[in-house]
Amino acid sequence: MQALMIPLFLVLLLPLHVSASDSVYETFVQCLSNQTNQPEQVSNIVYSQTNPSYTTVLRAYIRNSRFNTSTTPKPTIIVTPTQESHVQATVICTKNIGIQLKIRSGGHDYEGISYISDVPFIILDMFNLRSITINLQEQTAWIESGATLGELYYRIWEKSKVLGFPASVCPTVGIGGHISGGGYGNMLRKHGLSVDHVLDAKLVDVNGKILDKESMGEDLFWAIRGGGGASFGVILSYKIKLILVPETVSVFRIERTLDEEENVTDIVYKWQQVAPTTDDNLWMRMLIQPVSSIVNKGEKTIIVSILTMFLGNAEELVALLHKDFPELGLKKEGVMEMSWIESVVWWANYDNGTSPSVLLDRNPDTANFLKRKSDYVQTPISKDGLEWLWKRMIELGKTGLVFNPYGGKMNEIPASATAFPHRAGNLFKIQYFVNWDEEGIELEKNYTAQIRRLYSYMTPFVSKNPRSAFFNYRDLDIGINNNDKNSYEEGEVYGVKYFNDNFHRLVKVKTAVDPHNFFRNEQSIPTNPNDRLSVFKADFYKHSNQVADYLLVSSSLADCWSPLRRDQIVVVDIYPIFLSLEKLMGGLMYLLLVWDLQLRRMNFWS
Ligand SMILES: Cc1cc2nc3c(=O)[nH]c(=O)nc-3n(C[C@H](O)[C@H](O)[C@H](O)COP(=O)(O)OP(=O)(O)OC[C@H]3O[C@@H](n4cnc5c(N)ncnc54)[C@H](O)[C@@H]3O)c2cc1C
Ligand SMILES: *[C@@H]1O[C@H](CO)[C@@H](O)[C@H](O)[C@H]1NC(C)=O
Ligand SMILES: *[C@@H]1O[C@H](CO)[C@@H](O)[C@H](O)[C@H]1NC(C)=O
Ligand SMILES: *[C@@H]1O[C@H](CO)[C@@H](O)[C@H](O)[C@H]1NC(C)=O
Ligand SMILES: *[C@@H]1O[C@H](CO)[C@@H](O)[C@H](O)[C@H]1NC(C)=O
Ligand SMILES: *[C@@H]1O[C@H](CO)[C@@H](O)[C@H](O)[C@H]1NC(C)=O
Repeated sequence: MQALMIPLFLVLLLPLHVSASDSVYETFVQCLSNQTNQPEQVSNIVYSQTNPSYTTVLRAYIRNSRFNTSTTPKPTIIVTPTQESHVQATVICTKNIGIQLKIRSGGHDYEGISYISDVPFIILDMFNLRSITINLQEQTAWIESGATLGELYYRIWEKSKVLGFPASVCPTVGIGGHISGGGYGNMLRKHGLSVDHVLDAKLVDVNGKILDKESMGEDLFWAIRGGGGASFGVILSYKIKLILVPETVSVFRIERTLDEEENVTDIVYKWQQVAPTTDDNLWMRMLIQPVSSIVNKGEKTIIVSILTMFLGNAEELVALLHKDFPELGLKKEGVMEMSWIESVVWWANYDNGTSPSVLLDRNPDTANFLKRKSDYVQTPISKDGLEWLWKRMIELGKTGLVFNPYGGKMNEIPASATAFPHRAGNLFKIQYFVNWDEEGIELEKNYTAQIRRLYSYMTPFVSKNPRSAFFNYRDLDIGINNNDKNSYEEGEVYGVKYFNDNFHRLVKVKTAVDPHNFFRNEQSIPTNPNDRLSVFKADFYKHSNQVADYLLVSSSLADCWSPLRRDQIVVVDIYPIFLSLEKLMGGLMYLLLVWDLQLRRMNFWS
């Protein structure tokens, strides 16, 4: 076999490629056709703004009506890959054109950043890549990122009545955003986060290469478990470990209103002691909302609802709460026993008796205008504090709070084990929520101002330095990146809130795998402009591959060689040698680096 070795210095021969383009759409389609082996398929997966299906495709995964208006920025192109190679081609071609790429799986981003942008952009819409393959022997599953959680739960249940997976209670949420952002649900205290059960992943990197856990390396695999996917590449699929669920689980919902019972404050106060410390099988979510009072007409009051998941039967649950939380006065009649899949349906708010096949429904029939924010609470809020809070919530009128208890398994996993940092030390996470159902700038201003006001009232009660936030509860109020020269400083503002101490490692990974910040958005992980060595290292592999491609083309043109096939060119991995050289002669490597940067400035190569 004729093979060609390419050492590092050949990189220097690389010419600069400049592509002239007629229109973005035509260039893009042309490039996609060139990049895929079935060019005739390309027209089926690319939607321009003039395509009659464009609006339907765009709207199919908009889950927040705020971003469903005529003034919402729209993508130049939507690509809906049906094969992994389409994703690779989309990354390469979008990069060639130099336009922004947004990646969408389930579209549940609270700020819509998977499908809107202030600059021209393309949506890579993953909904066709949604296969779920369950391996019963291993108790594992490979899930493509365009699948929904409802589909995952349903497919697990089809195969086994004793397996499950810990993730969100909302079945239409997409795998791509949910797992990469650290997803959690009602088994959090027993089993931790979704990312705590990820075994492997497939990702398309900035060079259009498909990587798995092995080839992406420890750092990148760590980053896409809680650090979000969109800063690092396109996640094709995750391999997860399934968990065992009991044949019977128990749920209940208890509601108390302040105007009917004085002791609601006592219950909320006690909840803060019990919910994060009780048996790990018990997860008690608490919702606190202002509502119209039935007792005092024309006035508002506070309603507190406790929704509970218990991995066990009703008798055990009643006995447990009788001991830990007698103030609730829970009776066996108030508890519903069911199978795990029925509990999934119950948590998704469907009526008792609804078939689990409802979990396959991708089109929820309600759509709201909404805004969310988040906080972490590390010390209990005093009774006086709570009573003061009720008054503020009643004044504001609409914004509610969800308290999601931590503890249990969350206390056992180190904050640096995955990119998701909020572990031991947190009693509960708060989600702020406000929904409304009419379009209007004034209305939106009112409600977003209201939720921000409540967030500001909460300052004394929540985590400080940083005031932490949950990445999957996307909130652009805590900082935005313009991805220009101040991108590192801008990224640090929201980055340390979402990721605490893990932010700096995320920046390192980002700088190494996407040094030119192709995968960027309003809250992506920035690169570190001072980490030149990382940039150089990352470019090393890219250049080697470019050289290989270059030789491939030249060999087909030159008379002196018989044309080569790509598999006849071996890119020799001399990087380990490079690394030991670096150790030996750190100073010299630095010189090389500076030289490289100088040539770059002179546009000598890309
Ligand atoms: C009704 C509702 C209920 C929710 N409940 C919960 C809950 O119980 N627990 C919880 O943890 N969260 C919950 N969330 C938040 C949810 O987990 C996040 O919004 C999550 O990011 C949604 O994933 P998605 O794929 O649907 O979203 P998308 O909007 O498609 O994506 C979200 C982000 O991930 C990126 N992304 C998506 N797919 C990929 C991919 N394949 N590769 C790389 N990047 C990708 C996007 O670019 C975007 O930045 C809820 C959200 C909603 C709207
Ligand atoms: C696609 O390939 C054709 C012929 O091989 C070439 O002329 C054209 O420039 C390529 N277009 C793009 C966008 O890569
Ligand atoms: C978006 O608008 C269309 C047309 O008005 C509507 O049918 C659809 O339900 C809306 N979706 C959301 C999430 O608001
Ligand atoms: C709370 O108050 C209600 C009536 O106001 C009463 O029935 C109930 O027993 C009280 N609970 C506790 C734990 O004090
Ligand atoms: C739910 O429905 C089943 C029958 O479909 C019934 O036996 C059960 O009592 C119902 N449970 C509740 C809490 O309504
Ligand atoms: C917004 O709020 C102000 C004051 O709270 C109120 O006067 C106004 O009517 C509200 N506007 C809308 C459109 O609801």
